[in-house]
Amino acid sequence: MFVDIAKPVNMRISVFRKAHFNAAHRLHNPAWSDERNAEVFGLCNNQYYHGHNYEMEVRVTGEVNPDTGYLIDLKILKDVIKTEIEERFDHKNLNEETEEFKNLNPTAENICYVIWKLISDALDDKYDVGVKLYETPRNFVEYPSPY
Ligand code: NI
Repeated sequence: MFVDIAKPVNMRISVFRKAHFNAAHRLHNPAWSDERNAEVFGLCNNQYYHGHNYEMEVRVTGEVNPDTGYLIDLKILKDVIKTEIEERFDHKNLNEETEEFKNLNPTAENICYVIWKLISDALDDKYDVGVKLYETPRNFVEYPSPY
């Protein structure tokens, strides 16, 4: 039976897109001694760096435009992620080759926050943005925290 669905009004919804990048990093606090760094960061303090296959999920929340039926054109979101994140971080040494982590320890927490900031700034203010970042299939972080 045909059901006539009224055009949704003020419909709040979330759209997601996944992306990934590969990058190297080293966890290190320059204010500490080598011994203290090794003690706190362990293998992640390796002075020769190590890499991760970072997977990310970007969430964009807001109201559907009744004229298009879109919250956001996914092409726009795809392009923002490509320009702001992938081209900036993919196949880079985060400590050595990016401005964002010259003075910021590239932990999953800090990388997630930086990704959120870059994407939020690139999108219209009307959108609420969230980012999940997987450093490994089992270890991931989320910003802002909904908990
Ligand atoms: Ni690591």
